Amino acid sequence: MKPTHSKTPTFRYFLISFFLSLPFLFLLFSLQPHFHLDPSTAVHPPPEYALNGTEDLKIRPGYSSYASYVQRQLNKTLNPRLRQIWTTRDWNRKIQVFVKFFDELKEKGLLSNESKALCIGARVGQEVEALKRVGVSDSVGIDLVPRPPLVIKGDFHQQPFADEAFDFEFSNVFDHALYPDKFVGEIERTLKPGGVCVLHVTLSKRADKYSANDLYSVKPLITLFKRSEMVHVRKVDGFGLDTEVVFRKKKDANEIQGS
Ligand SMILES: C[S@@+](CC[C@H](N)C(=O)[O-])C[C@H]1O[C@@H](n2cnc3c(N)ncnc32)[C@H](O)[C@@H]1O
Repeated sequence: MKPTHSKTPTFRYFLISFFLSLPFLFLLFSLQPHFHLDPSTAVHPPPEYALNGTEDLKIRPGYSSYASYVQRQLNKTLNPRLRQIWTTRDWNRKIQVFVKFFDELKEKGLLSNESKALCIGARVGQEVEALKRVGVSDSVGIDLVPRPPLVIKGDFHQQPFADEAFDFEFSNVFDHALYPDKFVGEIERTLKPGGVCVLHVTLSKRADKYSANDLYSVKPLITLFKRSEMVHVRKVDGFGLDTEVVFRKKKDANEIQGS
């Protein structure tokens, strides 16, 4: 005998309303924002965003040559009016924010006064000055444009340092990398085993017109850092960058992810 409720008008109306609402429910769930700290739950951008198997990372088109990429970076970094502002009005304000970040990393045991530290894409050197102010005296920065003594000339796609030179590397310019695999490969080459890399990146919005890539989750970073383990991810408020991702290079150099 069939259940009697299957024949009632109420149950029929329920079934009809349920099926009619399915498209709306689907739309609701597909409109989630791109910001996810948990790499396993990242919303995936369309297939054209894939890069060599790493998802959620898109290299911006429009650089006809490496020279045109470098020139674009230099257009801003060499701007005399901006350099004047960065080294006067903005100098201390930005250093104070970096000091807070580095103090927190020291509290977590990820940085110490004995660390030999590198800041990648350090422009006029505020993050290097901040490291020195928190007691990490052996600190230097690299940038396409040098500003000695804090920042020396160097391309982060090919760092001018020997293997295993640093205990700590910091960068808030991952979005400027035209070749993210080289950017990360160079960090892993120049970090000592057990060394720490701290990246500040933006996941929730697109960076400025000088950026060379767009990152949509931390998942591509985990893929790119082949010789390291992710030790923490947290939300930060760092000059338009919203996420701090920390990696530690594995002690056993042969311990490569996926091998
Ligand atoms: C957004 S600025 C960041 C400046 C600095 N980290 C700060 O927070 O004040 C990006 C910097 O990355 C540098 N840069 C871009 N491409 C680079 C490359 N291939 N190698 C080294 N530095 C690069 C630029 O010259 C610029 O100074």
